[in-house]
Amino acid sequence: MTEPIRLGEQFLQDPYQLYDRLRAEQPVAPALLPHGLRVWIVSRYADARAALADPRLRKDSVRQQELSARQAEETNSTPVITEFLNSHMLNTDPPDHTRLRKLVGAAFTSRRVAELRPRITEIAGELLDALPRGEVVDLVHGFAYPLPITVICELLGVPESDRADFRSWTATLLNTGVGEQELAAASDAMVGYLDALIAAKQRSPGQDLLSALIEARDADDRLDEDELRAMVFVLLVGGHETMVNLIGNGTLALLRNPDQLAALRADPAGLPAAIEEFLRYDGPVNFATFRFTTEDVPIGETTIPAGEFVVVALLSANRDARRFTDPRELDIDRATAGHLAFGHGVHYCVGAHLARAQAEIAFGMLLERFPEIRLAVSPGELTWRHSTLMRGLEALPVRL
Ligand code: HEM
Repeated sequence: MTEPIRLGEQFLQDPYQLYDRLRAEQPVAPALLPHGLRVWIVSRYADARAALADPRLRKDSVRQQELSARQAEETNSTPVITEFLNSHMLNTDPPDHTRLRKLVGAAFTSRRVAELRPRITEIAGELLDALPRGEVVDLVHGFAYPLPITVICELLGVPESDRADFRSWTATLLNTGVGEQELAAASDAMVGYLDALIAAKQRSPGQDLLSALIEARDADDRLDEDELRAMVFVLLVGGHETMVNLIGNGTLALLRNPDQLAALRADPAGLPAAIEEFLRYDGPVNFATFRFTTEDVPIGETTIPAGEFVVVALLSANRDARRFTDPRELDIDRATAGHLAFGHGVHYCVGAHLARAQAEIAFGMLLERFPEIRLAVSPGELTWRHSTLMRGLEALPVRL
């Protein structure tokens, strides 16, 4: 086997440099993640799209833990995939996946999302009103984060007072640079918190999605306890960590491309198309979640052996010149159909309608209210979060 590529700080700050090389020279490449897990990166668009829908690339939370433990034994390190919070739909194949996804699918249809728009607009308005004028503002902290977390918490029925805590646990759980103990502490805190939340909802149910999920479990036992807890976790995390990055990365892309910003201001009806281009150009998710092989799986000229983790590099696929012309250019008018920012196949993002609605409201209001918005630092000073899953800024300092 060729020597795995070590993914470190440079990759986290600028994954595109490596991806350009991989697509050209080594489209299916072994790599070591910052915490030591060995994976195979699939970087070309056509391979990525096929891999996302390939039933030979499996998902199963128990098997993933076993594989991670086996690798850790081989390399004398600690396993990075633990048993907690893992039995959710993103870690299951059909038929379990079908059952889990069906339970929440109805909450995220375009019709249900349309009903949420007035409330999303209200929340966005309040947040933008509260931003201080005349000084440097971190748009991630003041807008990109609080908007989606408020939306998903209201949908699920999570009390406002709890949000700061699980923001920090989530940030730790997604950080590929923290140590084993810190990870275990965040995971324990999250599990304890979710159990208390579920117990409180059982005592006094509301009109929210979590109450509905509890009822589904209590009625005909379709969700076991682990599944319920993991479901709430994946909705809470999936529902905000990605959105923060769409608002942050999209705003940065516009501020760095004044001609595109001017074009969008001149034609606000182009916003939905522009959002698809933000998703393609610098999407919120770097790697899709882990898949693994149970047999040898040839992709292009490389055969990934059985028992290996596979990650599909969504950011790379979306910049493949075989699929998108001048992929490094932000072009809000381009044909973006088929971009992979929301994934593909049975795990295609269940929250895509909600994400698009929030993004339309967020970008629409931000641009309308702040005709003069500009970056407050040079782009080189911005830092990206320490995560191979997420592609998002630590902070986005702007002047409004
Ligand atoms: C811009 C925002 C978003 C992006 C870019 C995004 C991206 C993705 C991607 C790439 C996947 C598939 C991952 C894979 O196959 O490994 C996915 C799945 C998922 N997303 Fe999103 N997401 C976004 C917003 C949301 C929101 C708002 C929710 C809220 C409920 C959500 C919930 C989920 C869930 C539950 C799954 C798992 C679906 C399944 O396994 O069938 N996402 N998302």
